[in-house]
This record gives sequence, C-alpha cells and structure tokens, in this order.
Amino acid sequence: MIVKIVGIHGSPRPQGNSTVLVDAVLEGAKEKGAEVRSFNLNALDIKGCQACGACHKNKDIFCVQKDDMQGIYEAIADADAVVIGSPIYMAQMSAQTMLFLNRLYAFMYTTQDGKSHFKIGPKRVVTVYSQGAPMAGHYVPYFDMSDASFGMMLQGKVEGRIVCANAYTDELIADAREAGKKLAE
Ligand SMILES: Cc1cc2nc3c(=O)[nH]c(=O)nc-3n(C[C@H](O)[C@H](O)[C@H](O)COP(=O)(O)O)c2cc1C
Repeated sequence: MIVKIVGIHGSPRPQGNSTVLVDAVLEGAKEKGAEVRSFNLNALDIKGCQACGACHKNKDIFCVQKDDMQGIYEAIADADAVVIGSPIYMAQMSAQTMLFLNRLYAFMYTTQDGKSHFKIGPKRVVTVYSQGAPMAGHYVPYFDMSDASFGMMLQGKVEGRIVCANAYTDELIADAREAGKKLAE
C-alpha cells in the first residue's frame, strides 16, 4: 500500500525554516515510497471559520465555505498522514496556520443524540515549529497544546515534532527526513 502524506506550510516565507523542514519530512517519506503533496496556506484563499455550524449538522460536506480549504479537506481525507509546519509569531502559531486549524472543525459532525463523530479516518501527524528564540524548550507547553489540537482534529496522534530554534541545521534536516521515513512505513 502506498502511504499518502499531505504537507501544510504555515509560513509565508518560501524558504523559511519551517517550510524547508516540512519539505525535508516529505522528502524522507518520498524516499521510502510515499506519495506526497503539499499546500502553502499563505498562497491560498482560506477564510476563518464562520461558526455557522453547518459542518456539524451535515456529515456529507466538510464546510459550506467554498474556498481553497475544500482541496485541503479532500487531500487530508484521502491521506494517511499530515505534516504541519508553522512559524511562531507572538508565542503562537502563524495566523495562516490558525485559520487552517480552526477550519478543521469541519471534520466533525454531531448526531441528534448530541454525540460528536468524525468524517475522516485517523491520520498520523508530524508537526514542525520554527521560532526565533534560541532555546528549543521555550515554547514546549504551547507546542504540546497545539499538537493536542492537531491530533484531536485529525483523529490521530502527533508522533513526531521538529522544533527549529533560530535557523535550521543539517542535524535538524536529518531528523526531519528520518521522521518522514518513519511516516512512510
Ligand atoms: C510577526 C512575527 C512574530 C514573531 N514572534 C516570535 C515569538 O513570539 N517568538 C519567537 O521565538 N520568534 C518569533 N518570531 C520569529 C520567527 O518565529 C522566526 O523567524 C521563525 O524562524 C519564522 O519561521 P519560518 O522561518 O518558518 O518563516 C516572530 C516573527 C514574526 C515575523
């Protein structure tokens, strides 16, 4: 079976640290035979969640907003794993990445008994965070919280996290490639 992986670029910088590291994860996976594709959030038309609730009332659609999230929903629904990279802005993920995360709400729906269900199967997840602060441990509580949200909305578990403090190194690139190879297994 060919493993399908979707990469999400949350940095507006085409050669940003998180961009390069997400690509390294995807390259590692590709080397092991995975089928990969990626989305650059900053280049896409993605609106914020309107909290209309239509997604939770209808299990047959993802979101009523017909913007570029539609392609991302389809790609993720069809994938086995998702690699999400974001810069840290003001101690949090980029606004582009947060829009994406909010819109993942559409993967859920609620039945009449009030119970929540998912429209997609579980995804394996790797996250990449890039910060200016030189101490890699500085934002760990925030990364834990963000990973929990990504994991929950993608019905899976974050099984790898790459943290880039200031600038990526050969060692980090190697770690990212290794994480990609594991995802492709
Ligand atoms: C608007 C803005 C806010 C930032 N806020 C933080 C911050 O709170 N903490 C931090 O460590 N770095 C901060 N940075 C630095 C970025 O996290 C850092 O440059 C990172 O490498 C950017 O990711 P990228 O290379 O993937 O684009 C900020 C940068 C920008 C542009």
